[in-house]
Amino acid sequence: MICERQSGAFPLPSIKVALIGVGNCASAFVQGLQYYKNFESGDECVGLRNLILGGYHPRDIQIVAAFDIESRKVGKDLAEAIFAPPNNAPKMVEVAPTGLIVHKGPVLDGVGEYTKSVVQVSSLPEADVMQVLRESGAEIVVNLLPSGAVKASEWYAAQSLKAGCAFVNATPSFIASRSDWARRFEDAGLPVVGDDLIDQVGATALHKTLLQLLSRHGVRITETYQLDVGGGTESLDTLERTRNLKRTVKTETVKTALLYEAEVVAGSTDYVDFLQNRRDSFFWIKGLYFCGTPMQLDMRLSTVDAPNAGSVLLDVIRAVKIALNRKLKGAILPICAYAFKHPPQLLSLEVAEKMFEEFIIMATR
Ligand SMILES: NC(=O)c1ccc[n+]([C@@H]2O[C@H](COP(=O)([O-])OP(=O)(O)OC[C@H]3O[C@@H](n4cnc5c(N)ncnc54)[C@H](O)[C@@H]3O)[C@@H](O)[C@H]2O)c1
Repeated sequence: MICERQSGAFPLPSIKVALIGVGNCASAFVQGLQYYKNFESGDECVGLRNLILGGYHPRDIQIVAAFDIESRKVGKDLAEAIFAPPNNAPKMVEVAPTGLIVHKGPVLDGVGEYTKSVVQVSSLPEADVMQVLRESGAEIVVNLLPSGAVKASEWYAAQSLKAGCAFVNATPSFIASRSDWARRFEDAGLPVVGDDLIDQVGATALHKTLLQLLSRHGVRITETYQLDVGGGTESLDTLERTRNLKRTVKTETVKTALLYEAEVVAGSTDYVDFLQNRRDSFFWIKGLYFCGTPMQLDMRLSTVDAPNAGSVLLDVIRAVKIALNRKLKGAILPICAYAFKHPPQLLSLEVAEKMFEEFIIMATR
């Protein structure tokens, strides 16, 4: 836990967040805000990396606006929209009505060929997104659009800039890692972080850690792959639009775990509807140890996809608030490298975690 808040310390102002896309990830995140709001000590609270981060508790995060395009979500209270189909993330807690109505955003490339069979586009009029952001007082916009919605992600990033909000890009569209976008945020005096959030129980992080552990012990890895199957809308979208992109991003980051060349493949592979929001990740590692003796590892990790983003998102949002407090601008490397698979600069897990810890500690001095 980085930086406990002193007991009786002055309450910090809330962190006002707007959600772009009320899908499975948003569902788990909103439920998490409810789930963790009454925990006071990190010891009794299960499932978070940091209950308090830089002095902020999850209950300091307030959702002030939300946008989607789905007819079963738009015009509904956020508490109802997060459980509306095609979302299939599990219900972990009851969420009381929030009083916050989901606005309709422009569709752009938000619905792909494959997902159009499960997504019903709302016929309600589109909101003026920039105006809603301004009026809601949002200071951080969190992009949770489908991974193939590249144009829509860029469009919301531009609205975020116009409304004077920091931008968190959880999707694998390249924004924070692109120098032209990073410069636009820098020119506007705003932070941007991304791209493609790292999961808490992440197949990528686990894969890298296993490879590093084996390599440290003198094993020469010769071949390795890690492939996923899932049943969320996101897996369906990935199948059509971002399979290759995700494979490139994941393979590049896994390769950084090895100090030598090896055959490495990492990526998503298929959609299996009956898995619902579950995800199975398969790992295969082949290497040579003492006197060239061969070893093989064959492993499966089963998780539920949406809750896997919750803890990391909580850390990212609080860290971005710290960046705003410190008037930092452009791509914020300590946050990008700690929490995203495709940061502007790839760093090892240890270096990224150390950098993030120093960033948080410095902010609270
Ligand atoms: N563990 C995780 O869930 C995780 C981890 C890393 C990255 N991500 C990324 O987070 C993003 C969201 O994942 P998800 O599982 O919640 O996806 P999802 O498909 O369940 O949700 C996407 C939501 O965006 C909405 N949408 C589509 N077009 C829109 C538009 N133009 N304007 C507003 N809303 C629109 C959809 O209706 C849907 O509600 C994906 O890009 C995914 O790659 C998720």
